[in-house]
Amino acid sequence: MSRVLKAVFPVAGLGTRFLPATKASPKEMLNIVDKPLIQYAAEEAEAAGIDQLVFITGRSKRSIEDHFDKAYELEAELESAGKTKLLQIVQNVLPADVSCIYLRQATALGLGHAVLCAKPVVGNEPFVVILADDLVDSEPGVVAQMIEQFERHQCSILAVEEVPREETHKYGIVATQPGPNGELRVTSIVEKPAPQDAPSNLAVIGRYLLTPRIFDKLENIGRGAGGEIQLTDGIAALLKDEPVIAYPFHGKRYDCGSKLGYLEATVELGLAHDDLGADFKSYLKRMAASGVCD
Ligand code: UTP
Repeated sequence: MSRVLKAVFPVAGLGTRFLPATKASPKEMLNIVDKPLIQYAAEEAEAAGIDQLVFITGRSKRSIEDHFDKAYELEAELESAGKTKLLQIVQNVLPADVSCIYLRQATALGLGHAVLCAKPVVGNEPFVVILADDLVDSEPGVVAQMIEQFERHQCSILAVEEVPREETHKYGIVATQPGPNGELRVTSIVEKPAPQDAPSNLAVIGRYLLTPRIFDKLENIGRGAGGEIQLTDGIAALLKDEPVIAYPFHGKRYDCGSKLGYLEATVELGLAHDDLGADFKSYLKRMAASGVCD
C-alpha cells in the first residue's frame, strides 16, 4: 500500500465544554503555554513525514486558516525591528514543504461525517486522523509510531490506552485478541459504552491511521449515537472486511477537550518549557508552600 502522506484534522466541532472560550474561536486554537493545540498536532504529523494537512473546518474557524497562513505585515515588522528569533518562530509555523487544504463541513453531523468530507482530497490512500484536543507528549510522536506499525502490518491502526472503568462512557472502546505477529487485533468497537457494557477498558484516543476503505463504510452507516455519523460505527463496519489493530502508544496524553486535562497540560508543558520551566517551578513551589493546595 502507498505511503501515509496526508493528515486529516477535524476541527468543525462545537467545543461546547469550553464555552464561552469557544464561542467565536475554535477549541483547537486554545493555547498551551505558547502554541495552539492545532500547532502541536500539525508538528506531530510533520515530524512523521506527512506533507499535506487537510483541515475539516466549520463556523468560526478562520483563525486556524490565518494561523497557518503567511503573516506579511507581522513578518515585515519583526524583520525591520531586528527580532530574528521571533521572525523565525512565526515563519516556522508551517514548513515550506508542507501544504494545507481546507474543506468545509457545513453542518456538524459528527466525527465520521467530518472524516468523510476529506474523501475527495485523500482519495485512495491510507491517511491519519488527528484530534488536536488530545495532546500527546512523546518522542517519537504518536503518528510516527503508528506509521511504523502500519509499515509492518499494512492495515488500519487505532491508538489506544487503558482508562479507568468508570470513564468508558467518554470513549470508543475496543475488544481485542492477539494476532499472529503479537499485534492486538480489534474484534469489536463500541462508542461510549456504560462501564457495565464496555467490552474492555481500552479506549481509542484521537489518533487513527485508516485505509481508504473507511470512506465506503462511512457513506453507508447512517446516523448512530446522538444522531451523529460516528467514526466508531465506520470502523466497526471496516473490521468486518479487513484487519484493524489497536496500538497502545508510548507517551503521555492530555485530554485538552476537558478543562482539567487542559490545565494539566498547561502545568506540565510549562514545567518542561526551555525558557520558562525553572521560574514556573519556583512559582509552583511557593504556591504549594503557602498552603493553597492543602
Ligand atoms: P468532540 O466529541 O470533542 O466534540 O469532537 P466537540 O464539539 O469538539 O467538543 P464538545 O464535546 O462539544 O466540547 C471530537 C472531534 O471531532 C470534531 C471536533 O472538532 C473534535 O476534534 N468534530 C466533531 C467535527 O469536526 N465535526 C463534527 O460534526 C463533530
